[in-house]
Amino acid sequence: MKPRLWVGLWLLLGLLVSAPQAAESRCSKGCDQALASYYVWQGTDLTNISRAFNMDITTIAAYNPDQIPNQDSVKWGNRINLPFRCDCIGGSFLGHQFSYTTRTGDTYTKVAEEWYSNLTTVPWLRQFNSYSDVSIPENSQLNVTVNCSCGDATVSKDYGLFITYPLREGETLETVANSANLSTELIRSYNPEANFSQGSGLVYIPGKDKDGNYPALTSSTGLSGGVIAGISIGVVVVVLGLAFFAYAGIYRKKRVKQAVLLSRSQQQSAQSGEDPDSSLVKSSESAGQAGGGLGMTGITVDKSVEFSYEELAKATDNFSLTKIIGRGGFGAVYYAELRGEKAAIKKMDMQASREFLAELKVLTHVHHLNLVRLIGYCVEGSLFLVYEFIENGNLSEHLRGSNREPLPWSIRVQIALDSARGLEYIHEHTVPVYIHRDIKSANILIDRNFHGKVADFGLTKLTEVGSTSLPTRLVGTFGYMPPEYAQYGDVSPKVDVYAFGVVLYELISAKEAVVKDNGSVAESKGLVALFEEVLNQPEPKDDICKLVDPKLGDNYPLDSVRKMAQLAKACTQENPQLRPSMRSIVVALMTLCSTTEDWDVGSFYENHALVNLMSGR
Ligand SMILES: Nc1ncnc2c1ncn2[C@@H]1O[C@H](COP(=O)(O)OP(=O)(O)OP(=O)(O)O)[C@@H](O)[C@H]1O
Ligand SMILES: *[C@@H]1O[C@H](CO)[C@@H](O)[C@H](O)[C@H]1NC(C)=O
Ligand SMILES: *[C@@H]1O[C@H](CO)[C@@H](O)[C@H](O)[C@H]1NC(C)=O
Ligand SMILES: *[C@@H]1O[C@H](CO)[C@@H](O)[C@H](O)[C@H]1NC(C)=O
Ligand SMILES: *[C@@H]1O[C@H](CO)[C@@H](O)[C@H](O)[C@H]1NC(C)=O
Ligand SMILES: *[C@@H]1O[C@H](CO)[C@@H](O)[C@H](O)[C@H]1NC(C)=O
Ligand SMILES: *[C@@H]1O[C@H](CO)[C@@H](O)[C@H](O)[C@H]1NC(C)=O
Ligand SMILES: [Mg+2]
Repeated sequence: MKPRLWVGLWLLLGLLVSAPQAAESRCSKGCDQALASYYVWQGTDLTNISRAFNMDITTIAAYNPDQIPNQDSVKWGNRINLPFRCDCIGGSFLGHQFSYTTRTGDTYTKVAEEWYSNLTTVPWLRQFNSYSDVSIPENSQLNVTVNCSCGDATVSKDYGLFITYPLREGETLETVANSANLSTELIRSYNPEANFSQGSGLVYIPGKDKDGNYPALTSSTGLSGGVIAGISIGVVVVVLGLAFFAYAGIYRKKRVKQAVLLSRSQQQSAQSGEDPDSSLVKSSESAGQAGGGLGMTGITVDKSVEFSYEELAKATDNFSLTKIIGRGGFGAVYYAELRGEKAAIKKMDMQASREFLAELKVLTHVHHLNLVRLIGYCVEGSLFLVYEFIENGNLSEHLRGSNREPLPWSIRVQIALDSARGLEYIHEHTVPVYIHRDIKSANILIDRNFHGKVADFGLTKLTEVGSTSLPTRLVGTFGYMPPEYAQYGDVSPKVDVYAFGVVLYELISAKEAVVKDNGSVAESKGLVALFEEVLNQPEPKDDICKLVDPKLGDNYPLDSVRKMAQLAKACTQENPQLRPSMRSIVVALMTLCSTTEDWDVGSFYENHALVNLMSGR
């Protein structure tokens, strides 16, 4: 084919693909109403239901005239429908967050299986609440997320209101269809994957409004089925095409990139003069020599240490509150000086399994300039992880904390590159390779020279690429999880690439991964969706400026910002295979870094040198 024809086809298909692809799977908006099917178990009453669903009894009664003839009581052993708004949460799935005030003796199991009649699950509760299973305080607020559906134009436009229906023991597709008086085919097509006979899990069933009618889908696109089918085929063609070109392109460039990487990383270690060991490991790895990073013990000495509880308690004044430097999803982090080294001790409210201990041993061997080093651990009582102490806090604080000087642009690019290098190392150069799974700005620490280090292998579960043993629970942080992971639990290095893309957007905008409107989660929007809206415009220039961290003023090179945004967009693509590898990201950021170096840092470094001097560091 002639080149011009290719370009033409390319543009045409590009236009076709851009809009529908973004709308798929990840949500862009919710709908005003959905229904929750609540099985009224023996012993509960309307007060309790109304309390859990933040809904008054009159409303509940209005939707269920048969089950609730007067407002004093409800029949046990039936289902009732509860109306709620269905939101697009964080741009990644449809659901509603109810707020539940805990009582004595509440556990996640009790909340899910009793108070919410299996409309939510224990893992789904853990996902949105920081309490560990054994320490849910009384009279506190739990985030209870109930999934929902707004319909599917490709199935039918006659149904626009959906019931979130938890399956119960003894039910089948037939019994469910019968009780709704709808065909099994229709119900099946809304729930293509569901096993209706498994006695648990959620399915979605068309529902009737208060007047007993099925409301139709209010379509915002107005496209006919034919057009949609046409576009879908277009999408497939384009995606295949893109994948082919990306593959061919990467294959051709691979050797070139490796050479660049090698020479650059040698340069870097020569310049910085820090920790020559890890750079050495890395550059020899990059050259593709035999032997994995962990096997190369000739270079990194075994420094793994098991600490005693006494030693840690002594170093932290008995885990005194004054020593706490941070708090995360699993417990507090304490500052300590241990054996002459500054350390951060992470106390986790959980027991370490035998497998996890084996993993920890391995992790103490992973050394790299851009990874926070695990010095050792202790398993007496709780689980304690001892890390090297990183002086300057985490990236999230620097971007959004009120007591921090804003990071200049070139330092942001540097931090991006540093973290990319840390990730690339665990993705490609350790044996076995690791997937971090909780990349976010709070897990990128800043050292005294304003270099970035990837923290927190606490949550990293050893995941050999290609292994099918999925983790028992979804780890990770809301707003940073790619759709394939949030929906199906698919784990690959591309999970980290996606989260890294979100961090890049944070570096540009200083906004949180989930941008809250009116301070409520329900109105929230993912940073990814926010940027994509702007980047998909034909002339995104002016609007990108509006997303740039206002604290930067005019002190940033727009071109560099734009390139970083494009990179972030590539990282957060919906299709994991189209996302670049950490290796290509490192290369891209090296180029970006070389053009922004020393652009704006002069006074920033001087001020900080002064601060370090004054505080005796
Ligand atoms: N090695 C360290 N040196 C200095 N500060 C640290 C270190 N490790 C953690 N911190 C601080 O403690 C905070 C809490 O850490 P922690 O890892 O428990 O929680 P998190 O990163 O917010 O969330 P997650 O539990 O998902 O990792 C960090 O954000 C950081 O500010
Ligand atoms: C329902 O709520 C009432 C008071 O609000 C309480 O006394 C009762 O025990 C609750 N029912 C159940 C089953 O817990
Ligand atoms: C929720 O599911 C559990 C386990 O399947 C079951 O024992 C319990 O009865 C269910 N609760 C309700 C209210 O249906
Ligand atoms: C509930 O969600 C909000 C907003 O995401 C969060 O700030 C809060 O900590 C969560 N509650 C718990 C108990 O984790
Ligand atoms: C079930 O639906 C059919 C039409 O699909 C209707 O004629 C019939 O009356 C309905 N039955 C009940 C009990 O609602
Ligand atoms: C559905 O679940 C039931 C009960 O757990 C199981 O026996 C059956 O094999 C499952 N069916 C499919 C198709 O997975
Ligand atoms: C709700 O939806 C999310 C995303 O699709 C899924 O990961 C989660 O398991 C669902 N929760 C329940 C309780 O089904
Ligand atoms: Mg952390």
